[in-house]
Amino acid sequence: MIQFKNVSKTYPNGTHALNNVNINIGKGEFVFIVGASGAGKSTFLKLIMKEEQPTSGEITVNGINTTTMKRRKVPYLRRTMGIVFQDFRLIDKMTVFDNVAFAMRVIGARPSAVKKRVLYILGLVGLKDKAKCRPAELSGGEQQRVSLARALVNNPSLIIADEPTGNIDPEMSFEIIELLNEINKRGTTIIVVTHEHELVHKFKNRVIEISDGKVISDSGILSEKVEVPIEISQEDLAQIPEDIAEEISDVSAAELSEEALRAIVQGEDEEE
Ligand SMILES: Nc1ncnc2c1ncn2[C@@H]1O[C@H](COP(=O)(O)OP(=O)(O)OP(=O)(O)O)[C@@H](O)[C@H]1O
Ligand SMILES: [Mg+2]
Repeated sequence: MIQFKNVSKTYPNGTHALNNVNINIGKGEFVFIVGASGAGKSTFLKLIMKEEQPTSGEITVNGINTTTMKRRKVPYLRRTMGIVFQDFRLIDKMTVFDNVAFAMRVIGARPSAVKKRVLYILGLVGLKDKAKCRPAELSGGEQQRVSLARALVNNPSLIIADEPTGNIDPEMSFEIIELLNEINKRGTTIIVVTHEHELVHKFKNRVIEISDGKVISDSGILSEKVEVPIEISQEDLAQIPEDIAEEISDVSAAELSEEALRAIVQGEDEEE
């Protein structure tokens, strides 16, 4: 699902953040990224979501070479991802509900679906009673969970989370990683940056360690994890044209959005 080939990143001020990184992350994996402050972890994630461009090397996401991808196609790439930023990036003027709902509204979801889904997701991260608050009225850990809720709400095929438990107590941290683990079991690829060694030890996931811009250890090579198909309900199928519904009824949701992404990207190319 994600491939880095000889990727280096030097910021305009001359800082070498990543140095000849080669990483393969397969569909359905759950990977922890660890390493000291300044090692290059956030840079790695920013390259995946194309918030930063590599100085050299090649990055492939969902089978698409994002290094050469046109800027206007980046939003389509991001829509397949749920992103938890290290600095949350919540919208101050919006309530907790709207911060999460916003992600659904931009893809044109119906208001009734938005309400149901947002309240469900806020429940999952334990924030239902804070739906009407604004970010400034929340603790750091609560803001972090809003940012997690926003990342989960569109059921993305890839979740990338930069220190999603950095401001949360150990018990809640455990619950959040467990929640991500459950989501992973249903086929979603997950990449989590963390400083918490205890969490990494508790969950036996693949661990990639970055030091000084280089991968210094990787507990797993591209694993051929068995795909767990997601069941698509009759209700979901009823909303999809029949011929397509038949085709996708046994495809996992992760694959579905990958295909959707391809269709969007390639479809646009054909029109040009
Ligand atoms: N926009 C930027 N401009 C210049 N240098 C940057 C920029 N962003 C990060 N860096 C530098 O690149 C290096 C890697 O930064 P990065 O944010 O990837 O580290 P990190 O591993 O996420 O650290 P932390 O655990 O503290 O979040 C650091 O030396 C940092 O100072
Ligand atoms: Mg960071």
